[in-house]
Amino acid sequence: MTRLAVTPAGRGLRGRLTVPSDKSIAHRALLLGAIAEGTTTVRGFQGGRDNRATMAACRALGVAIEERAETLTIAGRGFDGLRAPRADIDCENSGTTMRLLTGILAGCPFASRLVGDASLLRRPMRRVIEPLARMGASITSEPGDGRAPLRIEGRELLGATHALAVASAQVKSALLLAGLQAAGATRVREPTRSRDHTERLLRAFGAALRSEDLWVEIDGPQRLRGATIALPGDFSSAAFLVVAAAILPGSELRLAGVGINPTRTGLLDVLTAMGAAIEVVPEAGGAEPVGTLIVRHRRLHATRVAGDLLVRSIDEFPILCIAAACAEGTTEIRDAAELRIKESDRVAVMAEMLRDLGVAVEELPDGLVITGAPSLGGARIDPRGDHRIAMAGAVAGLVGAAPVVIDDPDCAEVSFPGFYATLARAAGV
Ligand code: S3P
Repeated sequence: MTRLAVTPAGRGLRGRLTVPSDKSIAHRALLLGAIAEGTTTVRGFQGGRDNRATMAACRALGVAIEERAETLTIAGRGFDGLRAPRADIDCENSGTTMRLLTGILAGCPFASRLVGDASLLRRPMRRVIEPLARMGASITSEPGDGRAPLRIEGRELLGATHALAVASAQVKSALLLAGLQAAGATRVREPTRSRDHTERLLRAFGAALRSEDLWVEIDGPQRLRGATIALPGDFSSAAFLVVAAAILPGSELRLAGVGINPTRTGLLDVLTAMGAAIEVVPEAGGAEPVGTLIVRHRRLHATRVAGDLLVRSIDEFPILCIAAACAEGTTEIRDAAELRIKESDRVAVMAEMLRDLGVAVEELPDGLVITGAPSLGGARIDPRGDHRIAMAGAVAGLVGAAPVVIDDPDCAEVSFPGFYATLARAAGV
């Protein structure tokens, strides 16, 4: 197994950087491009392993995708033109790939089987199986416990109204993609609003949908037409650099071309409440808002994160824990039970990491209570194959007082190709 030691930065993070393209938006651009009629062009694609799993899945369904420099050209086939895959579709580590594809394949006139890596096979799929079944879908969890491998027998679907128990963009998106093919209206209500990339991109591909507050509604069947999509930088990747710069004295970091969709940028509100100095300068965007983030060091103090703020920073939990560990006072992060069923049990794994770094932490069923330490100690970290845990560990090593050794650091490639090199460049090492 490879191992990486991240040593304390001798200075703050400086310079102007960009981060790889938004993983969440790229999954959707690929899938919508595949089911649209005509050509879709996706610009600025620098996807990691998760996005490549979605690209391979589209190809397995007969969709030609050309990748040249950072531009993808997708020869959309329309729903009717997708062909039965000749083998299992491997979603690898990507929950978004599996859940969104399930919504598409539920209405296609052929059978398919979705598999994934050990982490993905542990994650709950009943949250898409059950609501899709109410639309007429036939999806079987092979182990019988709601987890993948999933066997999908395509069926004609009927629109339905769904009230989700948990805010989930993946579930909402799977239902909207099924709704596109279903007869009649499909309505989805969430308890808190999750990221709205699917809604924005569906509109960019010519779909009509209505959304208001916690509701979104689509009439089916509808056809999509190919579109040109420019991918912004991934806010969830920028988050690791933003927190590192906020903590390290002497930092002044500019991150250009980052997606600043408000359903994703809860971390900016959290850090601002903690006293951070972050400026957001809007840039010209397309379907998604884009901007430059300018982060300067300032001493952070404790805060409380829960409810809507937690949903808007769902993927930032690991790095938020590092910010809390370096802040003055006791930070409470609640309503985070969903984090236990991400690529790893992020609540438990972060509690363990913080303890190893010498930070006082209390683990609750739905979150953590973290008391900031004067400095972080060294540790050896097993990220359990979870990209965001590995990257949070690297930031701990950079901002702490002693090296952090990360086992299997390459799992960061799932979302942020070249992460450690980018971090080292910003730190001038
Ligand atoms: C995602 C939605 C979120 C998020 C995940 C990506 C998406 O998951 O955690 O990393 O692209 O739709 P949930 O829908 O399970 O909350």
